[in-house]
Amino acid sequence: MHENIVAAPELAGEGLQKIEWVRRNMPILRKIQSEFEKEQPFAGKRITVCIHLEAKTAFLALVLRSGGAQVSVTGSNPESTKDDVVAALAAEGLKVYARHGAEPSEMRKYMEMALDLKPHLVIDDGGDLVEILHETRTDLLEGMLGACEETTTGVLRAQARAKAAQLQFPVMLVNEARCKYLFDNVHGTGQSVWDAVMRSTNLVLAGKTVVVAGYGWCGRGCALRAQGMGASVIVCEVDPVKACDALMNGCRVMPLMEACKEADVVLSVTGVRHTIRKEHFKVLKDNALLANAGHFWEEIDVEGLSGMSKDRKQMRTNVEGFLLQDGRWLNLLGNGNIVNIACADGHPAEIMDTSFALQALSAQHLVQQEKQLANRCYPVPERIDQRVAQIRLESSGVSFDTLTEDQQQYLAGWVA
Ligand SMILES: NC(=O)c1ccc[n+]([C@@H]2O[C@H](COP(=O)([O-])OP(=O)(O)OC[C@H]3O[C@@H](n4cnc5c(N)ncnc54)[C@H](O)[C@@H]3O)[C@@H](O)[C@H]2O)c1
Repeated sequence: MHENIVAAPELAGEGLQKIEWVRRNMPILRKIQSEFEKEQPFAGKRITVCIHLEAKTAFLALVLRSGGAQVSVTGSNPESTKDDVVAALAAEGLKVYARHGAEPSEMRKYMEMALDLKPHLVIDDGGDLVEILHETRTDLLEGMLGACEETTTGVLRAQARAKAAQLQFPVMLVNEARCKYLFDNVHGTGQSVWDAVMRSTNLVLAGKTVVVAGYGWCGRGCALRAQGMGASVIVCEVDPVKACDALMNGCRVMPLMEACKEADVVLSVTGVRHTIRKEHFKVLKDNALLANAGHFWEEIDVEGLSGMSKDRKQMRTNVEGFLLQDGRWLNLLGNGNIVNIACADGHPAEIMDTSFALQALSAQHLVQQEKQLANRCYPVPERIDQRVAQIRLESSGVSFDTLTEDQQQYLAGWVA
């Protein structure tokens, strides 16, 4: 294996402190870790993890190692990689290849280096490892038991590959589990996006007109929290049902071109390229804020914005101003990268606890099913979803009801 890529080894202590903080706040993963230590489900297995490389991801990697796996780690977005956490993982003896601010080609090289572990399993976030394994590293396909995919964009890519009968190993769609999208996409994104916007700008949300493009699971959370903080929220959608849903939840709904004329803040969370583009930049108000919460940085046409600008300057850390020909300034957060991770710490630890518990148990499921699964996309089994929720409730001291036998029969029958 290659030598680790660690930009700042001297920061290992700070990274370890961050990992310890999230560990203390991730009770589900802690419980799974203690089970893995005893059962060693990954003994003899190799796992490559490619997720936003910060403290919560580091803890997931350590939990997988506790289960007996050899683990290599890389980041899914160079802006979200935390060099102190990279240093901490290296100090913990893991194989790690990532650097904050790496160029796209460099990031790709690190992914390939991490894959040189010859993994049986990959934990992916956005589908980049799955893509590399299918396009350039087909030599590694033979040993692969499968992949677990973290986010909506990666799920869509895996499903497209499966539909074309091109998928070469099973993919567990972790994002589609209820314990993922109901908490991570809605509440995680809802909280951490505004945390990022507020800490980057030091501005208030109350009284502002906030435009949310995309009312999926993430958009719903972002709109909900913006409303809660006193913003007037406009939702822009292409799906009429989602548009109705937004309307019924008290948002105004209109086309993005109209919304941009009123917007103080425009947030893209569609997962679709160039959601916010030149025609929108032309009508935005002076000083409007632009942010993206979707997985890829392409949702805002940053190149188009740059081409229309006669000047650009750093306004604050993570806020860049673009001066348009007519004298308006537009402010772009985090260079158009996924704002809650590029400009803040990502989802809260308790939220990633449910997501990463699903990842750990789905990886275990792939090993248990070794070679029994077809090369297609699989939902996370209901028993795993239920188990994660149960541990979550137990760890908060919350109990819940169960159906009586009579009620179970009632639900299973068809005679009134
Ligand atoms: N920021 C984060 O931490 C985070 C967390 C989870 C997922 N994500 C990413 O966020 C993106 C959205 O995820 P999701 O789970 O909400 O997906 P989703 O599929 O539930 O929602 C996307 C919504 O965008 C709408 N849409 C598509 N194109 C549009 C357009 N041009 N204009 C307006 N609306 C449009 C769709 O109709 C859909 O309702 C994905 O890229 C996903 O990977 C980010």
